Amino acid sequence: MKIAHISDIHCNYGIDFNEKIFDKAAKMVNKLDVDIVFISGDLTTDGLLSEYELAQKKLEGITGKLVIVPGNHDERNLGFKLFPEFFGETDFIHSLKDINLVGLASSEPDKDDGRLGRGRHKLIEQGIKKNDKMTIIGFHHHVIPVPNSGRETNIIEDAGETLEIILKNEIPLVLMGHRHVPFAVKIHKTLLVNAGTFSCNRTRAHFGNTFNIVDVDDDNISITVVDVRKEKQRKTIDYDLSDGCCINRNYD
Ligand SMILES: [Fe+2]
Ligand SMILES: [Fe+2]
Repeated sequence: MKIAHISDIHCNYGIDFNEKIFDKAAKMVNKLDVDIVFISGDLTTDGLLSEYELAQKKLEGITGKLVIVPGNHDERNLGFKLFPEFFGETDFIHSLKDINLVGLASSEPDKDDGRLGRGRHKLIEQGIKKNDKMTIIGFHHHVIPVPNSGRETNIIEDAGETLEIILKNEIPLVLMGHRHVPFAVKIHKTLLVNAGTFSCNRTRAHFGNTFNIVDVDDDNISITVVDVRKEKQRKTIDYDLSDGCCINRNYD
């Protein structure tokens, strides 16, 4: 199963949104013939109606099934009321081909901080109890600090409790965004993956605009970071689920 993991699109009529990069990146995604496109939030910058309309219009340029959770920017200015109108439920368990994908809204109206809370922790456990397929979790904020993304801020406030549930239940994969930097690391039996920003001008140093290709099968997960501007792919993670061996090429 192939997932395009994209994040932090930041549709906006100010300086945030780079439409040229979005269009280029969308074409790159479309060529990959993925099973699903998971978008881990920040589709807008200020949660405005005009930005939601722009995001909806631009996402029509990406083919395939889109699965979307909101980010902190999407919840600004009553944007949290618009998100369900445009993109459906914010917390869900989707049964997709070989996986159960638990999507969660980690953001709160008019706050940049993230939290999941007990209700969403229960939803994770419900996803795990389905037990017929691999469970993957996706939300916007980060659950551990992300290197190269500046001083730590906005990590989900119940990160400890969330990690406990994830690690205890040996969830193989968690997909996140928010920091505009691609990152992946394995802790215990879980691969924690952050996508960089797809089309926001607020990039960090040389990281540029990126998205992740996530290949999942019964005994392997790999992560490939795609640099949109350079049109380069770099496989950063190869995680063998059968023996637990994980090669992290970020640290070769
Ligand atoms: Fe963002
Ligand atoms: Fe964010």
